[in-house]
Amino acid sequence: MTDQAKTQKIQKINGVRGMNDLLPADAAQWTHLEHVLRDLTRAYGYEFLRTPIVEATAVFQRGIGEVTDIVEKEMYSFEDRLNGEQLTLRPEGTAAVVRSVVENNLLYEGPKRLWYTGPMFRHERPQRGRYRQFHQFGIEAMGFAGPDIDAEIILMGQRLWDELGLKGVRLEINSLGQAPERAEHRAALVTYFEKNKEQLDEDSQRRLLTNPLRILDSKNPAMQDLIEGAPKLLDFLGEESLKHFEAVQALLKANNIPCKINPRLVRGLDYYNLTVFEWITEELGAQGTIAGGGRYDPLIERMGGKAAPACGWAMGMERVLELMKVSGSLPEPQAQCDAFVIHQGGETLTAAMIIAERLRNAGIDVILFCPPDGQSASFKSQMKKADASGAAYAVIIGPDELAQNEAQLKDLRSTGVQKAVALDGVVDAVIDAIVGSTE
Ligand code: HAM
Repeated sequence: MTDQAKTQKIQKINGVRGMNDLLPADAAQWTHLEHVLRDLTRAYGYEFLRTPIVEATAVFQRGIGEVTDIVEKEMYSFEDRLNGEQLTLRPEGTAAVVRSVVENNLLYEGPKRLWYTGPMFRHERPQRGRYRQFHQFGIEAMGFAGPDIDAEIILMGQRLWDELGLKGVRLEINSLGQAPERAEHRAALVTYFEKNKEQLDEDSQRRLLTNPLRILDSKNPAMQDLIEGAPKLLDFLGEESLKHFEAVQALLKANNIPCKINPRLVRGLDYYNLTVFEWITEELGAQGTIAGGGRYDPLIERMGGKAAPACGWAMGMERVLELMKVSGSLPEPQAQCDAFVIHQGGETLTAAMIIAERLRNAGIDVILFCPPDGQSASFKSQMKKADASGAAYAVIIGPDELAQNEAQLKDLRSTGVQKAVALDGVVDAVIDAIVGSTE
């Protein structure tokens, strides 16, 4: 069989649906976002924590709650092939961070402000802004009970949107109170929904018995009027919960952060109490929530740690990058390098490689031309490559230049001027040119 026939027979293997490659053309945007996030966490004294992508399934069952979409329908779970342990690709960061904090006794010396980033996995139906592998940036402040930290983490979000130049992001906020308040509200909800049972869809009928609060989360258009008329949790809050909620709002107001109280905001995870919030935009279609979070005081104890209050939020990085695109605030594409080194093979390649290394020693980013066929390429095609690389300068070492112990230095962007430079002086000449062009 000829090579051509062989390649025709071999089928290509595609990536998994809903799990995307980060292609080189988009890499600079991600790097930019990551830099802004690092600066943000430093500005507020948050420390980096990395947990594994795989955790025991129980971390999420217990952390997020059994009767949630994530745990019921969306987790990538599997059995360890040797010991049969139930494992899961993390669908979110909070439960895993709490697992790590408890296991490593990180609150031993007092409260902690933590941040993390990385891929998360949910088996949802892929569409714009909703993927099966997506990336979150999240912060978790642990060991702080007061409304000050709720306000601080919200201020961090607002600062981030401003820094990234996002337009049209609104903050919605609610309080889920404490467990006894939710129990009273739950009883009232069950009575209300039972009275109107025929209007509930199948999912909600099931949830009426297991987790009626989740019914408020339903996006089913046929149930919206019914949900609108349901008893509101805010009306069941006691004095302490109300005081906390009002204090958070007062701090936000004092910092000029507008927010809208949304009594139907319940979040899709079961660990929350008191303050919950989401940042939402209309610019991205159906998947308009770019970030969400809240207080989750019961979780650390529920995961086996010594009881400690906590709160945090996480954002979807793909959604935020998409909104940056819509807002016109993505960074300009950057040049791949400062200098592109051109040669004609043989001894000129040897000289070019040495010069390229010297330039890199001086902190200059360099692409050395390597001919695709391993032989040589015309001067013209190399100049085209140099131009496409975005380099500001081309360093040209042909046989004539080498014979003179020289290189040609060509300005590719501003003046187009080309001049001969001694080989020993190439590094200084490129530095002078770069410094000169930025003065
Ligand atoms: P979450 O609301 O499930 O919260 O997710 C946070 C953000 O992740 C969402 O607002 C959204 O931007 C993004 N996201 C979620 N699912 C997908 C998906 N399938 N595709 C793309 N983006 C997605 C949490 O995960 C909590 N752990 C947040 C938290 C931290 N609460 C307290 N601390």
